[in-house]
Amino acid sequence: MSALSELYANIGCCNGCEIARSRIKVVPGEGAEDADIMFIGEAPGFYEDQQGRPFVGPAGKFLDELLASIGLNREKVYIANVIKCRPPVNRDPLPQEILSCRRWLNRQIEIIRPKVVVTLGRYSMATFFPNKSIGKIHGTSEKRDGVLYIAMYHPAAALHQGNLKEVIKADFLKIPGFIAQDNSTSEVKEEKNETVPITKQLNMFEV
Ligand code: URA
Repeated sequence: MSALSELYANIGCCNGCEIARSRIKVVPGEGAEDADIMFIGEAPGFYEDQQGRPFVGPAGKFLDELLASIGLNREKVYIANVIKCRPPVNRDPLPQEILSCRRWLNRQIEIIRPKVVVTLGRYSMATFFPNKSIGKIHGTSEKRDGVLYIAMYHPAAALHQGNLKEVIKADFLKIPGFIAQDNSTSEVKEEKNETVPITKQLNMFEV
């Protein structure tokens, strides 16, 4: 059993908070175990709860489009959520639910060891960019402990606020540039024999 399958089995048995009682299916996440890039959304909605898969509803369709716009697809990345069960009537996740679920996300990150984490929406952003505002930092990146974090609006935001659709598309198109810039910075440092480790070129943007 792979580390990820074992984790999914454990998440499937989780009763760590109240919303575990109302879920139809737990939605652990999916994608390549060796993915270089991980997208982290908020929580499953109606369709995800039915299917046990992340981003399979209307927001997921838009996410697929956004991935395609930068030459990616679901097989090449890993997609997870901060919360693994659907909050009733798609309400916002509560702080204790986020806290309780955090260990699963931490373990996913430990197993996948992504080089890039793209946060989708406020709740995911708050997990990795505490005390920041999505309106200010969407479409920006920050390198920390060897991982490049990129903050994005949630794809569902575009479905509720049409004017955000173009903003999200434009923010997504910046992702390859952030990664290329990060790789070249690491390489320059290595050429100078500094002790900063070179980050492996991300396969998906190799020519
Ligand atoms: N919204 C999310 O944040 N995650 C999903 O999986 C679906 C919709």
